[in-house]
Amino acid sequence: MAVSSHIVGWGYYLPSRRLSNKDLEERLETTDEWIRTRTGISERRIAGEGESTASMAGEAAKRALQVSGLDPGDIDLIIVATISPEYIFPATACLVQDAIDAHAAAAFDVSAGCSGFIYALTIADQAIRSGGARAVLVIGAETLSRFLDWEDRRTCILFGDGAGAVVLRGTELPGGILATHLGADGSGAELLCVPAGGARLPAGQETLDKRQHYIQMDGREVYRFAVKILAQSTRAVLTKLDLDVKDISLLIPHQANARITSAAALSLGLPLERVMETVQWCGNTSAASIPIALCQALAGGRVKVGDLVVMAGFGAGLTWGAVAVRWDDVPLAAPRRWRRYWYRARYRWGSLRSRGRRLLRRLAILTEPSSNGHGNGATETQRHREKQEP
Ligand code: COA
Repeated sequence: MAVSSHIVGWGYYLPSRRLSNKDLEERLETTDEWIRTRTGISERRIAGEGESTASMAGEAAKRALQVSGLDPGDIDLIIVATISPEYIFPATACLVQDAIDAHAAAAFDVSAGCSGFIYALTIADQAIRSGGARAVLVIGAETLSRFLDWEDRRTCILFGDGAGAVVLRGTELPGGILATHLGADGSGAELLCVPAGGARLPAGQETLDKRQHYIQMDGREVYRFAVKILAQSTRAVLTKLDLDVKDISLLIPHQANARITSAAALSLGLPLERVMETVQWCGNTSAASIPIALCQALAGGRVKVGDLVVMAGFGAGLTWGAVAVRWDDVPLAAPRRWRRYWYRARYRWGSLRSRGRRLLRRLAILTEPSSNGHGNGATETQRHREKQEP
């Protein structure tokens, strides 16, 4: 029987530090009224010291795993969608893999702007359907506050930090992810980007002076694109299922701007009661916004068994996508009172194992035969080559 992917765990993490529009009024030429009327945003969360994309992703992942009842060792694949990764490389997903001791999991990042979570969910779904994975952790995580020009009132008011995660599991039960739709148009790449710090414009004094390491955006163009594509991709995923907008129980769009959401809902003919909105309290958390909104919808009782939930994203690239899910009640592991303590102990054990692996790696380098003292075995290789040469 065909396998389908079911969301069996979910969790999110928001930093505790709140930055309100009033706080922004004190440092920028802006007003609470302007921000609220143009974007619907009242406040956003900002990562504090010690918080970053990997740490928030790890927390969201731990919460999602606890809901699923799965052991981190059951996860075959971890995908982190982010445009504010911990490093250019290695992937943030690898850091999460280590932090939660998902020792059997492959791990990589997806960069698809604010559509990243939809892209990652689609890849995860395909990995499960193809038999390549049985359980996948899909995370959207961002620390955009560290990529914002806090002197640019056109961009810094919009974004916030946070992370959301889901655990996908393959089962032969019907429902779960029913259809996916992805798209991209690279001709709009410069409409929303961080120009410097990559291969085209490496970091240097000049790029720093020109503030090119911060997010730059053509707000009006992005707005026009967003309204159009949000409605289009929602329709596209429904068409694959031969369903109609009226069949949607809840639309969870990327949370960028309340005006974008309402304009798209109007164009779809979908009442706002069936559209999830969290932008007011979180701002635009890019790839993290959809999983955070999904968790909040579940916590608020806005998703019931049998509901058709459509998640739709759009963002830098330009990229877009939508995923349609029939919400089901795939039996979760039996809730146990001691589960929280078990997970805590499990992560402590994982962290010891990670330290052990680091130590063994250092010992291996120190004890490796080498004459140059760096233990890289170069001399051994050279000797071996010389032996082979006639
Ligand atoms: N406070 C006060 N005034 C501001 C301001 C702020 N934070 N930001 C811009 N303004 C000013 C502009 O300088 C401009 O003034 P001017 O007419 O004297 O030049 C005026 O407000 C209008 O600017 P404009 O950029 O036309 O505003 P807008 O109505 O398009 O709203 C956005 C700006 C950014 C809110 C809107 O374009 C938008 O939401 N775009 C989509 C952004 C987005 O969602 N990006 C992420 C996608 S994943």
